[in-house]
Amino acid sequence: MRLKDKVVVLTGAASGIGKATAELFAREGAIQIISDIDEEGLKETFESLGEAKNNTFMMKVDVRNPSEVKAMIEKAIEMHGKIDVLIVNAGVVRVGPVDTFPDEDYDLLIDVNLKGTHYTCKYAVPYFKKQKYGSIITLASVAAHIGQTAHANYCSTKAGVLGYTRALALDLAPFNVRVNSVSPGATDTPMLQGDVAKQARDRGLSYEVVRKEFEEEGVMGRWAKPEEIATGILYLATEESSYMTGADLRLDGGWTTR
Ligand SMILES: NC(=O)c1ccc[n+]([C@@H]2O[C@H](COP(=O)([O-])OP(=O)(O)OC[C@H]3O[C@@H](n4cnc5c(N)ncnc54)[C@H](O)[C@@H]3O)[C@@H](O)[C@H]2O)c1
Repeated sequence: MRLKDKVVVLTGAASGIGKATAELFAREGAIQIISDIDEEGLKETFESLGEAKNNTFMMKVDVRNPSEVKAMIEKAIEMHGKIDVLIVNAGVVRVGPVDTFPDEDYDLLIDVNLKGTHYTCKYAVPYFKKQKYGSIITLASVAAHIGQTAHANYCSTKAGVLGYTRALALDLAPFNVRVNSVSPGATDTPMLQGDVAKQARDRGLSYEVVRKEFEEEGVMGRWAKPEEIATGILYLATEESSYMTGADLRLDGGWTTR
């Protein structure tokens, strides 16, 4: 077991990549504090963990709300006295052309993807500095590296996550804390399925046609399974990546190699 006795705090655990990560980390022996705004989905993830439920605490947390995020971090410290790994995974996507993009959708993207990332790190950083060890992993995206049609607003938040991650890595390096991001490509989760469905509606195309377009973006011609992103997160969580900080792990099926 690669994470035995390691305390892991994970946001966005109810679905997709977060759920696959909670399940993988449970099999690797982690002690987990899993959170999400979606309480029903979070319970489903919790139930899927089998015996590892005994090692898991779940909490409804909206990452847009600093006091809820602070309470999650303090709960982890109160229960276990340390945080070995922080996974800043909660995120949302909204797509559409900029000239008709609703302001409330852009507010949501910024509040969850950027401010949520910041709050989650902000309240954990003092404990990481004190401990002088640990790994923080954020979720960027291929959208942080390349332009995607009708994704200008989403791309701007994920490029922001990348910049935040790099800069925080500098601040925390003197404290022996590593900070890295993962950039998934098209990954088969409710987020991407919803994204494709919206684009199909907007463009008057079928779901299958737009899905195929996304599949062909990566040179491997298929979407990733969420489990294939979770294994990358696991690598960054363990000492196997001990000399990596300020880096971005692109798990994009070759999308950004074109
Ligand atoms: N699926 C992809 O193709 C893809 C590609 C690149 C990056 N990502 C990133 O990976 C991460 C996980 O995405 P996913 O595909 O698993 O999506 P998902 O929609 O399946 O899961 C995201 C989770 O975040 C939670 N969440 C949303 N808003 C929240 C809030 N305010 N507070 C707390 N939790 C909240 C949702 O309830 C959901 O459970 C996101 O940051 C996303 O931007 C996904």
